[in-house]
Amino acid sequence: MKQAKIIGTGSYLPEKVLSNADFEKMVDTTDEWITSRTGMKERRIAAEGECTSHMGVKASQKAMEDAGVTPDQIDLVLFSTLTPDYVFPSTACILQSELKLPNAAAMDLQAACTGFIYALSVAKSYIEAGLYKNILVVAGDKLSSIVDYENRSTCVLFGDGAGACVVSDQGKGLILKDAVLGCDGDQTQILLQPAGGSRNPATRETVDQRMHFITMEGKEVFKHAVRRMEASSRECIEKAGLTEDQISWLIPHQANVRIIDAIAKRFHVDPERVYMTVQKYGNTSSSTVAIALDELLGEKQLSKGENILLTAFGAGLTWGSMVLCHE
Ligand code: ACO
Repeated sequence: MKQAKIIGTGSYLPEKVLSNADFEKMVDTTDEWITSRTGMKERRIAAEGECTSHMGVKASQKAMEDAGVTPDQIDLVLFSTLTPDYVFPSTACILQSELKLPNAAAMDLQAACTGFIYALSVAKSYIEAGLYKNILVVAGDKLSSIVDYENRSTCVLFGDGAGACVVSDQGKGLILKDAVLGCDGDQTQILLQPAGGSRNPATRETVDQRMHFITMEGKEVFKHAVRRMEASSRECIEKAGLTEDQISWLIPHQANVRIIDAIAKRFHVDPERVYMTVQKYGNTSSSTVAIALDELLGEKQLSKGENILLTAFGAGLTWGSMVLCHE
């Protein structure tokens, strides 16, 4: 069986910064409330006219350069997003055109904030089955396009950005070990964008009722997040034949520093080994894990045999964990 590895990574964050001080001027909030409840200080916001595919293209260019693969070598694009450029065609198709990938098939994958881990597990299966050789896995979102900037409970949480990696059957990199994925569709209503799909197509009323924005029951999401990420991480480590102390780095979904701390505490992971970007980028949906992975690899020299645990949760609810092992 072929082995699937991440052989290159890249990320992109828009230049515009939205700080807690900016929110103090927009809604009834304070820097103190946002920092103590979420750990966030800043997030990045896409420029006028900049959309999800643009950010995905920039992250992908870096990942392909890092991997040393040429456009003709990419044979599949998997794009995880919940804010696609259009409902259809897929954002992956737009990216295939922009990057001029002549031999690539392309599709979007939607598992909300868990999407990058879901996409990695799909890429792993294709590579191991011998169907593809080089898969570009992209995660990107322009959450500012669906955030209600009049709702203080949600607007402070989200930002825009993209991360990407090349998953290949050759070269040196991070081996994709076991993944554990899950879903609880009974919890759909606690986190969703109610309108814009076939259930509530866009009408004057849906716009007036602000139904095209994210709605969320924060406390409920928080509870499920901690429980599901902990359980799937434990299962994933066990499946990979590892113990907790063999995990060198934990990269959790960056939704809230308190959720991250709760996970780290349950795993007895040294806080210095928990990679965080939430303070500077906020929650960028499934790209948080992809961006954090790219930044971690840029900053630290990993040794042979070191393991990274990725874990995430998102709307659906969905959750997933995966272990990466440095060759
Ligand atoms: N500034 C000031 N006060 C605020 C703000 C704000 N920005 N937002 C809410 N409040 C108020 C509320 O109105 C409430 O006031 P009330 O008691 O008078 O009603 C009070 O603060 C407390 O609200 P809580 O909901 O109890 O605050 P909590 O400690 O739960 O923190 C938070 C809220 C940060 C949203 C937290 O619940 C959370 O992070 N939940 C998980 C959210 C999440 O992860 N979402 C994304 C998941 S997946 C994806 O990325 C799509």
